[in-house]
Order: sequence, then structure tokens, then C-alpha cells
Amino acid sequence: MSAPAATGQTPLRVGLLGCGTVGAAVAQALSTRPALYAERVGSPIEVCGIAVRNVDAPRELHAGLSGLLTTDASSVVHGADLVVEVMGGIEPAQSLVRLALEQGKPVVTANKQLIAASGQELVEVARQQATSLDYEAAVAAAVPVLRVVRESLAGDRISSITGIVNGSTNFVLDMVARHGLGFAEAVERAGQLGYLEADPTEDLDGLDAAAKIVILARTAWMVDVGLADVHREGIAHLTDDDFEAAASCGQVIKLVASAWASGDPAHPHVEMAVRPVALGADDPLAQVREGRNGVVIEAESAGLVSLFGPGAGGPETASAVLGDLVNAACRLRQ
Ligand SMILES: NC(=O)c1ccc[n+]([C@@H]2O[C@H](COP(=O)([O-])OP(=O)(O)OC[C@H]3O[C@@H](n4cnc5c(N)ncnc54)[C@H](OP(=O)(O)O)[C@@H]3O)[C@@H](O)[C@H]2O)c1
Repeated sequence: MSAPAATGQTPLRVGLLGCGTVGAAVAQALSTRPALYAERVGSPIEVCGIAVRNVDAPRELHAGLSGLLTTDASSVVHGADLVVEVMGGIEPAQSLVRLALEQGKPVVTANKQLIAASGQELVEVARQQATSLDYEAAVAAAVPVLRVVRESLAGDRISSITGIVNGSTNFVLDMVARHGLGFAEAVERAGQLGYLEADPTEDLDGLDAAAKIVILARTAWMVDVGLADVHREGIAHLTDDDFEAAASCGQVIKLVASAWASGDPAHPHVEMAVRPVALGADDPLAQVREGRNGVVIEAESAGLVSLFGPGAGGPETASAVLGDLVNAACRLRQ
């Protein structure tokens, strides 16, 4: 079953699954820049439903959008031409994304856990239904690293990808290195400022960064790799002595995610790691400050390609979601 393609001025209906930090920013942008999207897509884009857990929770939403809130997420999928999944986690996000794809509806998501766990399977459902699943925001938020790896470097041979892809841990490490906080104090400060979740293990144990490097490796080399293939060491066990030792050598400790290919270029052997690394002060990744992200891609012809920018935040992440949404909407119109 295919989603109806909107033509002329028929609005394209977007179903929003989630209205938290990212979802609210997506909804806000769609309601405050309607002319921009109508011009780029060729049809107006309108939000037709917003799925949340609690419709009564206080939230800042543009007038008119509050009435679209519902706890019935399936009805949002059924009523939409395109679906944006920004609720996070595996379930019910996975079932809802699958439902939309099986109805032939393009899906845009920022959900790295979901894409790392079952992205390949969901992309296959999208392919069978001649629709699309896009997830630029799932890695490094506003930094368009997946698009560069998949499209800009499609004619090149990538040998490695190295990056700081978790803004929360980078904020902690930056507080220690540049502001002289003790490690435990920096973790506490990051929690107070909302950089860390109430349960910060996903970030501190390197799980979030591992999900992102898996997605990057699959995109770069089209290999069947998963979270279990990542050599992972977080930063929770680091001590003030480790930071002092690094600083005395002019180095800074960063949580670095990396993936590299070796062997036959046609069937490369890909390895991945997430671990704290002491970087020299002149390393480009050593300059990545606070909650920002940075990724360096090495390719045979291009050499080193570096991308830096905001790796988190509502409007920043929404920028990547909206980029995918505009592209998906243009394809749907065609
Ligand atoms: N925040 C960032 O900077 C950032 C950056 C890159 C990627 N991402 C990804 O973007 C996604 C969203 O992140 P976020 O920070 O916006 O999360 P969030 O603030 O926690 O918002 C999640 C939203 O989803 C809704 N939701 C959660 N479970 C639901 C369920 N079972 N049924 C219906 N609604 C449900 C919540 O409803 P209620 O409002 O009623 O609780 C909330 O509106 C995640 O996959 C995250 O990894 C976030």
C-alpha cells in the first residue's frame, strides 16, 4: 500500500511521534516557517497529529498544535503522509516506524538506539515498500556526517572515521580539562545542566557513542555490524590522576569513537572502538568543546575531511530532522 502523493497545494500531513526536546523544536519550526517549507517542497507541510505519553504535561507549543496531542500513536501514523519519530527508545518506536513503512510512508527519525539495533531490517522494509527511512539526526545531530559519508564520499574509498559523537561526555571531559573541575564534580555539573540523563550510564559507559559508530560504519562500508562488535570502554572509571597525567604531557582526554577498514577493499574487515584517548593539544578533536561533536573521515582521494558542530539540542537536532523531512517530502511529491 502506498501513501497518497500530495500534489499542488494539497498539504503533506506530517505525523509527529514525540514532542519533547527535539519533537517540540520540529513542531515549532514547521509552524513558524510554513512558507519556507511550502516553497522547498512544492506543497504546504502541516502537522496532523502529535503522539506523546501525557497530553496534559506542560509544553511550549505554537497555538493550534496543542489540540493535535494524543496518546494514540498508531492513529497519528494512520493519518499521516510522512512520519517523524522523535520519541526515542526501542519500543513502541520500532513498531510504529515499521507500521508507517509498511503503509508505504516515509519515516524520518533521530533515534540512534533504534537504528543501531534494527536499522538494517527497517531499511529493508522501506525498500520493499518503495519508501524511505532517513536518520541524519541520529549521529552528531546537526552535523551532516551521515550524508557526507553516504553521498559526498560515495565515489571514494573511506579508510577510517574517528570522532567525538557524544556531547554529554565531551562536556564532562571539557569541564575537567579547561575549567579544572574534578571528574566527579564535572559529572554532577553536567547532570545539573541537563547534559546527562538521570541515568547517565548510556553516555558515561560509551553506549550512545557505540550506537553512533555502528551506524557510521554500516553507512561507510555497508557491513553487517552491531553494538556487540564495538570494543567499548567508557569514562566512568577515569580518575583525577588520569586527567593530571594527561595534562602534564600537554594532552586532553576525550571519548573517541572510531571505525576503520582493512583487508580487501571490496570486502573490508571493519573494526570499531569507543574509548577514552589522550589527544595532543593540536589534534582537531582535542579542540572540540563543551557539548559539541567533531568527526574526521579519512578517504583515499579526499584525504582528511573534518566536520564539527552542535551534536545535541532541540533546534540543532531538529535542523537535521527537518533536512531529512524536506527531502522525503520532495520525493513523495514527485
Ligand atoms: N535531545 C537531543 O539533543 C537529541 C540529539 C540527537 C538525537 N536525539 C534523539 O531524538 C529522540 C528524541 O529525543 P528527545 O531529547 O526529544 O527526547 P524527550 O525530550 O525525552 O522526548 C520524548 C518524547 O516522546 C514522547 N514519548 C516517549 N515515549 C512515548 C510513548 N511510549 N508513547 C508516546 N509518546 C512517547 C514523550 O512524551 P511526553 O512528552 O508526554 O513525555 C516526549 O514528548 C531520541 O531518539 C534521541 O536519542 C536527541
